Amino acid sequence: MLEKLKQLKSQAKEEISKSSNLDILREAEVKYLGRKSELSSVMHSLATLNEEERRRVGPASNSLKKELEEMVLLKRKSFTNTSSIDLTLPGVPIKIGHKHPITQFLEKVEDVFVSMGFEVVDGPEVESDEYNFDLLNIPKDHPARDMWDTYYLTEKQKNRETEEQRNKKTEKLLLRTHTSPVQLRAMGTRKPPVRIIVPGRVFRHEATDAGHEKNFYQCEGFVIDKNVSLANLISTLRIFIKRIFGEKMEIRVRPSYFPFVEPGIEVDMSCLICGGKGCSACKKSGWVEVLGAGMIHRKVLENMAKVGGANPPSPRLRRTGWNPKEYSGFAFGLGIDRFAMLYYGINDIRLFYGGDLRFVEQF
Ligand code: PHE
Repeated sequence: MLEKLKQLKSQAKEEISKSSNLDILREAEVKYLGRKSELSSVMHSLATLNEEERRRVGPASNSLKKELEEMVLLKRKSFTNTSSIDLTLPGVPIKIGHKHPITQFLEKVEDVFVSMGFEVVDGPEVESDEYNFDLLNIPKDHPARDMWDTYYLTEKQKNRETEEQRNKKTEKLLLRTHTSPVQLRAMGTRKPPVRIIVPGRVFRHEATDAGHEKNFYQCEGFVIDKNVSLANLISTLRIFIKRIFGEKMEIRVRPSYFPFVEPGIEVDMSCLICGGKGCSACKKSGWVEVLGAGMIHRKVLENMAKVGGANPPSPRLRRTGWNPKEYSGFAFGLGIDRFAMLYYGINDIRLFYGGDLRFVEQF
């Protein structure tokens, strides 16, 4: 008898678990638990067994019945949609993105300057020829324009214009090659004293390699006030670099040329890779160039008042510009990508813009 129950058990379990829909499950239920099932006849025959056998077969058949009933119940639940959803199970985690390493680094830079009292200002990425070059003391056809390989935007549109429209139009559009034009835009609505930074995207028509991209980020900074000196500029930059890279970091200043500053300088910082000893990344010099800067050229100071629309500058001021005997200013342009590469130890600028998640997810 017990042997029979054992057999029934394995057979019934298999059929119940294999049943693929409610009808088949119902059939199995009738077959193994119904009135005419073998289990039921075993239970009916209990009365005919002797005492000892009844003590063994009775509980065994009862527990088998219970077990099979539970199994059927569970299986039936799994077919009815709502009850098969276990609301207590943890959900599938949703993957959310995070800030790009350039954005993260830019925010660090902004924090440092904001703590020194700088205001953060934005400017257009599509800029006019006038603001990107002329007003920054880089006249048309001047060889200094060669320092910025430029994407011009209006050529195509021009073809659709009439001769008359073309002549009327003086503004030529381009993708800004640096954030310096925002010096003028910001001063169009402000008057000294100012402390401003301008983080933003710039574009150069260049062949790309590990150190160059067609688009990258700069952070312009400038201060205009009475008695601003080159010493103020250098100490501001020194504080900035030490705050980002640590107290031990040193800077080196070299004379350089940019048409919109006089004098102009370039700033190097000690190479992070070799610690200043000299390696292939710093061309064995121990220094890497990180930014251009200088004292704002008096012609640019003049232009800042000339384009001014707000506050409003007096007609005389509009003509003469901020008096360079009264006001002076310094300006600098940080190459954000280059800084971020040194900061994170990245050896190829193209990784920033390649869209490869294996790279981006490391930050
Ligand atoms: N605009 C310059 C460049 O892109 C950098 C710079 C900014 C230099 C401000 C001097 C002062 O090369």
